[in-house]
Amino acid sequence: MAISVENGVFYLETANTLYQMKVDSFGVLNHLWYGAKTDDCMDYLLDYPDVGFAGNIYEAENQRTYSLNTLPLEYAAVGEGDFRVPAVSVTHADGSNALALRFQEYHIEKGKYKIPGLPAVYAKDDEAETLTIVLKDAASGVEVSLRYGVLAQADVITRSVVVQNKGKENVVLNRVHSLCLDIPYGNWEWVHFHGRHTMERQTERAALVHGIQESGSTRGTSSHQQNPAVLLCEKGCTETSGFCIGAALMYSGGFQAQIECDQLEQVRFVMGIHPDTFSWTLEPDACFYVPEVILSCSEQGMETLSHRFHQVIREHVCRGRYQLSKRPVLINNWEATYFAFDEKKIEEIAEQASRLGIDMMVLDDGWFGRRDSDFSGLGDWVVNEEKLQGGLGRLVEKINRLGMKFGIWFEPEAVSEDSDLYKAHPEWVIRIPGRNPVRARYQLVLDMSREEVVEYLYRAISKILTENHIAYVKWDMNRSICDWYTAALPAGRQTEMPHRYVLGLYALLEKLTTAFPDVLFEGCSGGGGRFDAGMLYYCPQIWCSDNTDAHDRVFIQYGTSFFYPASSVGSHVSAAPNHQTGRVTSLKTRGTVAMAGSFGYELDLNKLSEAEKEEIAEQVSSYKGYQRLIYEGNYYRLRNPYEDNMAVWAFVAKDRKEALVQGVVLRAASNVLRGSVRLRGLDAESFYQSAQDGRVYTGRALMAGGLLLPRTEGDDAAFTICLKQVPEVKNKN
Ligand code: DGJ
Repeated sequence: MAISVENGVFYLETANTLYQMKVDSFGVLNHLWYGAKTDDCMDYLLDYPDVGFAGNIYEAENQRTYSLNTLPLEYAAVGEGDFRVPAVSVTHADGSNALALRFQEYHIEKGKYKIPGLPAVYAKDDEAETLTIVLKDAASGVEVSLRYGVLAQADVITRSVVVQNKGKENVVLNRVHSLCLDIPYGNWEWVHFHGRHTMERQTERAALVHGIQESGSTRGTSSHQQNPAVLLCEKGCTETSGFCIGAALMYSGGFQAQIECDQLEQVRFVMGIHPDTFSWTLEPDACFYVPEVILSCSEQGMETLSHRFHQVIREHVCRGRYQLSKRPVLINNWEATYFAFDEKKIEEIAEQASRLGIDMMVLDDGWFGRRDSDFSGLGDWVVNEEKLQGGLGRLVEKINRLGMKFGIWFEPEAVSEDSDLYKAHPEWVIRIPGRNPVRARYQLVLDMSREEVVEYLYRAISKILTENHIAYVKWDMNRSICDWYTAALPAGRQTEMPHRYVLGLYALLEKLTTAFPDVLFEGCSGGGGRFDAGMLYYCPQIWCSDNTDAHDRVFIQYGTSFFYPASSVGSHVSAAPNHQTGRVTSLKTRGTVAMAGSFGYELDLNKLSEAEKEEIAEQVSSYKGYQRLIYEGNYYRLRNPYEDNMAVWAFVAKDRKEALVQGVVLRAASNVLRGSVRLRGLDAESFYQSAQDGRVYTGRALMAGGLLLPRTEGDDAAFTICLKQVPEVKNKN
């Protein structure tokens, strides 16, 4: 049993971790432990100091030492003397805020709970158990059900919350986070992933300071600027040692992660929908379902934590036909043509691509409506026959005849003012009455909270997918949302709109992915502006960044790898000089870096020399050879590009029979030794042969002494070493 209860103590056990909480004599649910297995009840760690200005709940009578401000709590509210960041905050009909959450009951079920309308980790009934603990505020009737999904073998615990108003009057939820984790002891640092458009998920690690540190988004999407995945680690924690906890929110809208270090050096970590762009009115009997947080921890450093997240995302978040299977190597025309193409141009690119072994032609932005630039056309999902004479069907047939699949781009949530859709339905855009809407990339956003908008998009997209043999959809979204308003809600409930937008988006994605199970959906938001576990539930891969410069991608993909598996990372080889940075890197480097993900090309093959085309054919064929290892192997960050002059990463097969070591030396240097890197995850007792120089090594030598890296020349020079287990060979002289 992964979940057990003894004397009011809840034990959530996974293969290597333990989570504990306890109902105390006042019915308050205390958090006791999240970490390594201890074979003990950890309530002895609770301390009851008499801290000045700490309030005492009424039931505690004159016990000055019982204060919610100093106890580790499982789910923190406001109004009872806990002044740390709360997980939940409400406004009652009388305008007051207090919630006195006390234990009511619990249930344990087989299997993993689901969340209506929201993505959630899924598992077979024998892979997971669910614990629900119901807390109640007696004065108002508000019930808060804490839900825990325990995936024992995956070492993952999910957390979600259902709030039900069992009172007689409306209650407004001002914030309701999925995660609340109190940690009374330790010396902590946090790692978060910040960035900007074309430079997402930059890794930043910092010691906690007293007060609140925060990462979040109020942009309506999870954003380029911060990612909804945060790591808390003990000082000194490395890739391979030390304790760390990771939390990834399965949500694609605005989010907030706050970590507070309080007056007693205790840490509270909360995470959920961003309260600045959220509030929700709960009528009597109504329920609110809170998006889920995926939680894991590791005693063996961040590498093990990443392995756990990669596994749970691949096996229990991503879905559909392409969840675990190899994805087609694609060529996308965006950086090859931008808006300037016709069917002949696309066919020419596809013809070259098919000769080089590329599996799929993806037609990006510009194929529909009057879309000749980014000023017009969004919303009109009908083929532009001036560009594609003979229509989409003929082009798709031609591509299929080349032996290639065909994929297509949509930006369903957006609309151009210069479009037939806008003319027919100006009321469908997000716009505050009496104010001008905010444009971004010249476009407006559709009100996804309205059913008729979702229905229109479903019909328009499914028409294209039904009438044409389409194997792939790139789902883009190219702006942040700010001037929230929907005619579908009364004035007092406008703050529900950002969350309702996300629910509408999920409803559309769910309907389309169910109706078209054979289509591979790739997420995108100006690159990686909505790279989160919520989108991965519908799209097993996401375009990682609009920055295709291999040098920058090294850093972007390094940060992305902490939570997200390589199979989810869309990465392409583009032209040199790079269109975003002007940097020139070799085709070899561009190929090596792009291979650490779901691979493709995004350039005009007809502008390349014969030698370059040959090199591409070789890259495609090697990628296909490595693809299973890249998708299914364990991922190792062997060198950190922020600290070293190189990034080195490796994929090691789960059975340890094969390893792919790749890297980029960032700056060339003269008069230096070749670099070396100690590998991890190999079988110490086995022998491995390098496909590059034929040398056979013992696994033990590769992990203790390391692998000598090839000599490289020039900046951003890449290398690849493939190692395969072989029978014993004696190297000793
Ligand atoms: C942003 C995407 O990230 C690009 O790859 C491309 O699809 C453009 N949008 C098209 O407008």
